[in-house]
Amino acid sequence: MGEAVIFLGPPGAGKGTQAARLAEELSFKKLSTGDILRDHVARGTPLGLQVKPIMDRGDLVPDDLILALIREELSDRVIFDGFPRTIPQAEALDCLLEETGTRLLGVVLVEVPEEELLRRMLKRAELEGRSDDNEETIRRRLQVYREKTEPLIQYYEKTGALRRVDGLGTPDEVYARIRAALGI
Ligand code: AP5
Repeated sequence: MGEAVIFLGPPGAGKGTQAARLAEELSFKKLSTGDILRDHVARGTPLGLQVKPIMDRGDLVPDDLILALIREELSDRVIFDGFPRTIPQAEALDCLLEETGTRLLGVVLVEVPEEELLRRMLKRAELEGRSDDNEETIRRRLQVYREKTEPLIQYYEKTGALRRVDGLGTPDEVYARIRAALGI
């Protein structure tokens, strides 16, 4: 039987940072839709050319493209980072987990206030130059999160899978809270 963890939260909350550490320590595969898409953009693939303007605006890539990537990359011990992000994605994932007999260990919601999210992403723009880390696009990403992704909080609250974690503090402190919240 497979096992999965989902990381949910606004842009800049630390999902990628924490998912990478948990995946390494548990020997799970980290499946980050954002990383896969950025890799396509960097390689200039047809998918990359299609999604680049969408990502640069801070909008979401269409669900059918994302679900095709997930089907390709799914593994039996997996940590999802940045997926699902819409209710249709969450419903499709439920079907996929059921089909593959995969147990959801928990949905970690990393909560960070908006001023801190902005601070972290602007700092990353200085260091790494990620093309969607400019103030205008960050504001759009936050708005899209509120409109399209926040409804997932209630979705997973209803199933009892949601684990709220305070994302402020050092990465080590946040990581310890995540392990405690998942009971692992
Ligand atoms: P994606 O790559 O998923 O970006 P995001 O959700 O906007 O998240 P970030 O990567 O900005 O933040 P994070 O929460 O992972 O934090 P991180 O660990 O990096 O998506 C990008 C785009 O791809 C989307 O806008 C969309 O267009 C498309 N896309 C992706 N998935 C999609 C989907 N499922 N459906 C449709 N479209 C999709 O940390 C942020 C920064 O803070 C880093 O610099 C880090 O070093 C720092 N940091 C981390 N933890 C701490 C801490 N505790 N204290 C201080 N700094 C910290």
